Amino acid sequence: MEGLKDKVAIVTGAAGGLGTNICRTLAEKGIHIVMADNSSALQEEFKKFKNEFPDNQGFSFKTDVTKEEDVQNLVEETVKKFNKLDIMANNAGVVQDMYEVADTPIDVFDKVLNVNLKGVFLGSKHAAKQMKQQQFGTIVNTGSFYGKTGQKQFSCYCASKAAVINFTQSLALELADYKVTANSVSPGNMATEMHWKALRNEAEIREISFEEMKEKVIETIPLRRHGTGEDIAGAILYLASEHGSYVTGQALNVNGGVELH
Ligand SMILES: NC(=O)c1ccc[n+]([C@@H]2O[C@H](COP(=O)([O-])OP(=O)(O)OC[C@H]3O[C@@H](n4cnc5c(N)ncnc54)[C@H](O)[C@@H]3O)[C@@H](O)[C@H]2O)c1
Repeated sequence: MEGLKDKVAIVTGAAGGLGTNICRTLAEKGIHIVMADNSSALQEEFKKFKNEFPDNQGFSFKTDVTKEEDVQNLVEETVKKFNKLDIMANNAGVVQDMYEVADTPIDVFDKVLNVNLKGVFLGSKHAAKQMKQQQFGTIVNTGSFYGKTGQKQFSCYCASKAAVINFTQSLALELADYKVTANSVSPGNMATEMHWKALRNEAEIREISFEEMKEKVIETIPLRRHGTGEDIAGAILYLASEHGSYVTGQALNVNGGVELH
């Protein structure tokens, strides 16, 4: 893909399983990366990133995506350094512990909606302000295949991701006049701790081993493997490139075909 070198991207959730590899794959194309996360692992991840990409001019920025001041500062510091923002990847997210609706504590609902929806809202809001002004850019919000259909015991997570998909459509309509695109990506079963934790729980319930549970999931994926941050980065690179410039308001499935069963 052409035209990506020296673009500037903010990636939230950058210290996580998908985030670290999204950052690496984008950096391989010459994109400067601002790594944002609220985790104490962020510094260490950024150090590793810098060792691998010493010429990358990006930086790390401790950010809680649920706090407007943090997100505003994140975007402002990025623009102060680079005078632009090409890509806003709102990837930070949390999964919920498994509960039926009838048993869900309110703090589970609040936490999941706060990070997954409010975080995406704030990231989109402050990126949109900048992108409207500069009249270019793309926003990519991370949804989930769980945002497309309800799932037992994941109601808050599913609802938060469904909201991300719908929110991104409104955003796309508002930004179209400014030549700014906004899309969501919907990962499937991804090879990260977030997914492994859910598998461990499910394995325990079914009284089978983790490896057996993992095999069962792979059987449901037509491409017969878990997804990675590189796969998500592929979608982001496409959407940020000239080739993806006519795509807006979409929810792009990056899931190995899992919904086809
Ligand atoms: N792993 C999967 O199977 C899967 C499937 C579908 C969608 N997703 C989505 O992909 C995204 C990345 O997930 P992952 O698998 O890398 O999970 P992960 O838990 O490895 O990473 C998530 C990152 O988000 C960060 N984060 C959490 N709350 C935050 C906050 N308030 N402010 C800033 N950062 C915060 C965490 O510190 C972590 O580094 C999430 O939005 C997730 O919902 C994942």
